[in-house]
Amino acid sequence: MKHLLKLADLSAEEIFGILNLADQLKYERKNGIPHPHLAGKKLGMIFTKSSTRTRVSFEVGMTELGGTALFLSDRDIQLGRGEPIKDTVRVLSRYLDAIMIRTFAQQDVEDLAKYGSIPIINGLTDYCHPCQVLADLMTIREYKGSLKGLKLCFVGDGNNMANSLIVGGIKTGMEVAIACPDTYRPDAEIMKWAAENGKFTVTSDLKRAAEGADVLYTDVWASMGQESEKAEREKVFRNYCVDKELLSVAKPDAMVLHCLPAHRGEEITDEVFEAHADEIFDEAENRLHAQKAVLCKLLK
Ligand code: CP
Ligand code: NVA
Repeated sequence: MKHLLKLADLSAEEIFGILNLADQLKYERKNGIPHPHLAGKKLGMIFTKSSTRTRVSFEVGMTELGGTALFLSDRDIQLGRGEPIKDTVRVLSRYLDAIMIRTFAQQDVEDLAKYGSIPIINGLTDYCHPCQVLADLMTIREYKGSLKGLKLCFVGDGNNMANSLIVGGIKTGMEVAIACPDTYRPDAEIMKWAAENGKFTVTSDLKRAAEGADVLYTDVWASMGQESEKAEREKVFRNYCVDKELLSVAKPDAMVLHCLPAHRGEEITDEVFEAHADEIFDEAENRLHAQKAVLCKLLK
C-alpha cells in the first residue's frame, strides 16, 4: 500500500490489516503503552474544506505516534492563490513524509499521488471518504464481532459516504443496501462494481432497504460545497430520515452510525441519535485509531 486515495485501491486483506492494527493501537493507547512508531515523521494536512474530526484525529494521531502534523489551510498556502497542485506537492515532498488532503475534486488527490514522491491520504473528497469508512468498519466489527454477512443500510444522499460505504462494505463481505432518491444515487461505476462483486441493492423505498439491517447509517442531505442546493435538497430528502419507525424494520439489535456532523430533525431524529450515541461516538473515536493504523502502514 503506497497511498490511501480510495478504498477501491485496497484489497480485503489490506483493509483487514488496517483494522487489526487499529484494534491493537487502540488497546495500547487505552493501557498507556507507548507506540512511537513514527518518531520524527512529518505529516502535512491540506484542508480546502472545514473539519473537526479529521483535523484533530490526524494531528493527535501523529503526536501519539511520535511524529508531527502541520495544518495547511488553503487560505494560507499558495495553493489557494492558484499555485498548481502538481508544483505544491513536488515542493512539499521535499519537506514532509506524507500528506493528508481534504478537498473537492478526487482528481486533485490522484494528482498529488502522481506528481509527489510521498504517501498521500484522502481525508475526504466529493467522491469518497475512505478514512471515515475504515473507522466505521472498525466500529461495526467491535460491536458485532465480524463483518461478513451483515447487512449495512445507508439512508440518504448517494454522496462520498455512500460511495465509500459501498466499496468498504462489499470488500469486507457485507450486504449493502442504499436508500436514496432516484436522482441522487451513488456513483454509477461503484454501483456496477458492487452489483458484480457482492450483494448490493439501491432503492428509493427506505423500509425495503432497512429491512433486517444490522447497521443503519446516514449522513447530511447537503454536503460541504452544496450549500446553495440546501433548500432544494430539503424538499427532495424530507422523508430520508432515520427515525424510530424506520429502525423498527431493522434487526432488533441494529446499530445506528453517522459520520458526523449530524443535523438532528433532518437525516436522523434526536431520539434515535441519542439512543445510539455510544455507537456514534465510538465511531468518531475510532477515526483516531484507524488513521494511526493507516499512517503506520504507509510510513513505517
Ligand atoms: N466525519 C468527518 O470527517 O468529520 P469532520 O468533517 O469533522 O472531519
Ligand atoms: N457528506 C459529508 C460528510 C462529512 C464528513 C460532506 O461531504 O460534507
